[in-house]
Amino acid sequence: MNFINDQHTNTYPQAFLSDVLTGLSKPNRYIPPCWLYDTVGSKIFEKITDLPEYYVTRTEVKLLHEIALSFSQIIGPNASLVEYGAGAAIKARIFLNALIDPAEYVAIDISFDHLEQSLTELALDHPDLRVRPLAGDFISGVMATSLDSETQRVGFFPGSTIGNLSNDEISTFLRSSRDYLGDDAYFILGADLRKSSDILIPAYDDAQGVTADFNINLLKRINRELDGTIDSSQFSHKAVWNDELSRIEMHLESLEEQTFEVAGQSFTMSKGDTIHTENSRKFQRPELDKLIQENGWKMVRYETDKDAYFSVMLLKAHQ
Ligand SMILES: C[S@@+](CC[C@H](N)C(=O)[O-])C[C@H]1O[C@@H](n2cnc3c(N)ncnc32)[C@H](O)[C@@H]1O
Repeated sequence: MNFINDQHTNTYPQAFLSDVLTGLSKPNRYIPPCWLYDTVGSKIFEKITDLPEYYVTRTEVKLLHEIALSFSQIIGPNASLVEYGAGAAIKARIFLNALIDPAEYVAIDISFDHLEQSLTELALDHPDLRVRPLAGDFISGVMATSLDSETQRVGFFPGSTIGNLSNDEISTFLRSSRDYLGDDAYFILGADLRKSSDILIPAYDDAQGVTADFNINLLKRINRELDGTIDSSQFSHKAVWNDELSRIEMHLESLEEQTFEVAGQSFTMSKGDTIHTENSRKFQRPELDKLIQENGWKMVRYETDKDAYFSVMLLKAHQ
């Protein structure tokens, strides 16, 4: 996927079209989670972060406030902070306030309109900081821009977005960010930890139905952008705990036998068939150690909240 120079067919955004048509044609229908975030999806995601059941953001934000100063002292002055999947950039603000004279904030997100709005406000609060929003895929896109050569590079990947990626994608991401940020780089990584499904399932299937709206918005987006004819009222949101793979899976379940079109192509789903739309993996420390070590980084600090719900790590580029 490369969204920076996204090719458009006559009317459709090519990367989205290709992922949707391929994903709906597989026996186990799967559409990658990045497509949940158009402008509407990003706004719904912000509502999710405030839900009582969604412990993730609350816990990470509190932890970041606790550790930001000590991480910043290790990192030192004049940083270029590079955030992958920045969204509302709320967590970057915590670090930008703690870092000593930060020089630059580069933020990449697939949902660009939303990012631009967030960074306009952030730039007003940090008049001396170079603020650079980038549109694109965080695995391939950020490489297209060059950083100030004199700065201390720091990658930032909070929100446990790493849990949405497969092992192969995590390896590609960590290696390419290591290559891009360079030999002296640091990296601040947030990862959600394994815990009881009694806590996890409500976090991804809340009582007010906000997460359901977020998931269903993908179908509405397909209708808006790819001439889809999907009746979204004939789907329901499902959050399933997959214990073996230690992940919450989000699915859209068909409530009846139905046929719909996407960009002129016809698809049929039986009652009970699902479209798999997101994985949120819940990590354990040894898995994180292994992924980090095997992909060009070493662990400098590993911090969790008091309940060990969430971890924030400081990594240093491996020489
Ligand atoms: C789980 S949210 C986290 C947002 C924010 N970093 C936080 O911690 O609250 C994931 C963010 O990554 C963006 N995103 C998801 N997949 C992406 C991709 N492949 N490339 C770039 N951005 C992506 C989404 O638009 C969204 O803003």
